[in-house]
Amino acid sequence: MAYEMILLERRGGVALITLNRPKVLNALSHQTMTEMAAATAEIDADDTIGCVVLTGNDKAFAAGADIKEMIELGFVDAYFGDHLALWDRVAACRKPMIAAVAGYALGGGCELAMMCDFILAADNARFGQPEVAIGTMPGMGGSQRLARFVGKSKAMEMCLTGRQMDAAEAERAGLVSRVLPLAELLPEALRTAEKIASLSRPAVMLIKEAVDRAFDTPLDVGIRFERRVFHATFATEDRKEGMTAFVEKRPPVFCHR
Ligand code: CAA
Repeated sequence: MAYEMILLERRGGVALITLNRPKVLNALSHQTMTEMAAATAEIDADDTIGCVVLTGNDKAFAAGADIKEMIELGFVDAYFGDHLALWDRVAACRKPMIAAVAGYALGGGCELAMMCDFILAADNARFGQPEVAIGTMPGMGGSQRLARFVGKSKAMEMCLTGRQMDAAEAERAGLVSRVLPLAELLPEALRTAEKIASLSRPAVMLIKEAVDRAFDTPLDVGIRFERRVFHATFATEDRKEGMTAFVEKRPPVFCHR
């Protein structure tokens, strides 16, 4: 598929997706998310890719779903068309995805960042769920994922008032894993992604599945799931290679099998 609203580049084992509607602060139109879903599927099917970085520009990661597209939408159209269901296909990406967020990550922008596996933020990043100010509410997981990231009190305050968090507060609250100077954001996100892509792909993908289980299963079920996928790593060539390389005091050479 040819992409117009996003840029998709391959850099070795890393796919870099850049949201590319700078004039409207990367507002997430239907076409943008159609392209995001297609890019996600393309990356999942590409054996050469081990990790994804999703980013925007210095002013905006994304300022939300495209408000201009939604003005005339009625309930029945939204319901029959299952409006925004398309975004689930991005959240379902099986390869690790890092959000590199500078500037605004608001509404659907904050929700898209939270669909990634972790968020690296520039020091100018701002996160918020401002939908209440335009008479609606988060529609792509904000009320659910934000509460899981930062707890009820902060999530409730942000969704009920639309207040934005700056990068420092987002780091304190656990929404982002690290804050970096703006100029360092993308280089560090790409370095981190390269590191992940260089590791055993089966181990990385199983770990992603296991950590995600922590958020949708009771502890005992999650622990049992983890134990089984841990056992599964003993069926991979990479597990044998990793442990052998450790004992032989040399770097491992993973074949991703
Ligand atoms: N949808 C469509 N267009 C948007 C947009 C959005 N979410 N956010 C910004 N834009 C457009 C503006 O309309 C403007 O376009 P024009 O030049 O054609 O007028 C352009 O981007 C630049 O925006 P501003 O002039 O507003 O820039 P600013 O620096 O003054 O303000 C801002 C920045 C505070 C982020 C402001 O743009 C803003 O509040 N944007 C909307 C944020 C929002 O409400 N997001 C939630 C959307 S609903 C949603 O996401 C639902 C969901 O859960 C999925």
